[in-house]
Amino acid sequence: MLDRRSFLSVLGGASLAWPRALEALARELGAGGAQDDEAFWSLVRGQFLIPGDRIYLNNGTLGPSPSIVVDAVTEHARRVAETYPPGVSWDDLKGSMAALLGGDPAGYVFPRNTTEAMSFVAHGIDLAPGDEVVTTDHEHIGGLEPWRLVTTRRGATLRVASLPVPASSGEELVEAVWRAVGPATRVLSVSHVTFTTGTVMPVAELARRCRETDIILAVDGAHPPGMMRVDLGRLGGDFYASSPHKWLLAPQGTGLLHVSGRWRESLWPTVASGGWDDRTLGAHRLNHLGTVDESRLSGLLAAVEFLRAVGMERVEPRVRYLRGLLAGGLGAIPEVRIATPAAEELCSGMVSFSIEGVGSGELQTHLARTANVRTRVIGEYDYGWMRLSTHIYNSPAQVERVLDLLADVARTGIPPA
Ligand SMILES: Cc1ncc(COP(=O)(O)O)c(C=O)c1O
Repeated sequence: MLDRRSFLSVLGGASLAWPRALEALARELGAGGAQDDEAFWSLVRGQFLIPGDRIYLNNGTLGPSPSIVVDAVTEHARRVAETYPPGVSWDDLKGSMAALLGGDPAGYVFPRNTTEAMSFVAHGIDLAPGDEVVTTDHEHIGGLEPWRLVTTRRGATLRVASLPVPASSGEELVEAVWRAVGPATRVLSVSHVTFTTGTVMPVAELARRCRETDIILAVDGAHPPGMMRVDLGRLGGDFYASSPHKWLLAPQGTGLLHVSGRWRESLWPTVASGGWDDRTLGAHRLNHLGTVDESRLSGLLAAVEFLRAVGMERVEPRVRYLRGLLAGGLGAIPEVRIATPAAEELCSGMVSFSIEGVGSGELQTHLARTANVRTRVIGEYDYGWMRLSTHIYNSPAQVERVLDLLADVARTGIPPA
């Protein structure tokens, strides 16, 4: 087993190939990258392994890694097999993550996904019978089930706030959440961006209210990292959980949890590996130090560095630009009902909608069959929306193709297979 104070692996002597390849890519990308600079974004698209005939609009479920990330994983795995020191450290990872997402490097913990990160939070707090946890009717099971388990086990109560659809303002969302908060509320657990409609929740204001009322705020941030600029140092809240294998384009099974200062010494670890009770280690006590898949963590580091090389100041506008083209086109189809808010500050890289008289499941099959389009249907809570995600490997031409198909379906229905 690794010593908790030591590096994830030994850094010395590691002349890795992927950081050099990334440097070369950064030089090639140069200074362009406006939201509609198609030459620049075509170069970015060339870094991915997605087949040319596929229109992948389901990054909200899983982000395809660029080849540099895949290379980092395989290079690491090869070095392990060759018994060479692979060259990634906890400090590298924490420092890189903080450079991308803000927050304190010492606050970062690396579980396998949001589900595990939220489980670390729910199990780590001493809830008592009668305590309340407030959540919403737009939470993913990954952010919800840990609370369902813990409240059931401890005799606490789970209260579910109902969110407006589509939401018209941040204030409306804050009030909808806050109506469910009462004197027994110990924890508020909400998504930063909802998986249902891609709505950006007013987390900073909720964090402010939670601070004032001494409520613990756990944020399910599965989506924003890698999709939009995030500053965990300023956002507020006690815990921020995420899945870098989504918008951050990291390998499957990479999660993160950012723990605020006041919890680093007091949260109970869910996985007890050596040093779990050494409070001088802060949040690092919560990392799992048995034999872990370091290659995956090497891929996570490469993914963070890839996005830093492209630059979040270029990524977010491009993601929004493509989603805007999509939402604008959908808005022009009379049979389409959009569930995602219209206000830009409440929007992200996902848009959800339905077409009158058309089942989203059938629509999904039709799009996959006719144009190899990958989508997500939000069947949860019986919402029944189709959700489309746009990321940096998508193009306006792809968006137009999908809009044409949707307009045809709205006019004439789904043709028989
Ligand atoms: C908002 C949200 N939370 C949590 C999850 C669960 O993520 P994971 O399966 O990576 O734990 C998802 C997955 O889609 C999600 O959209």
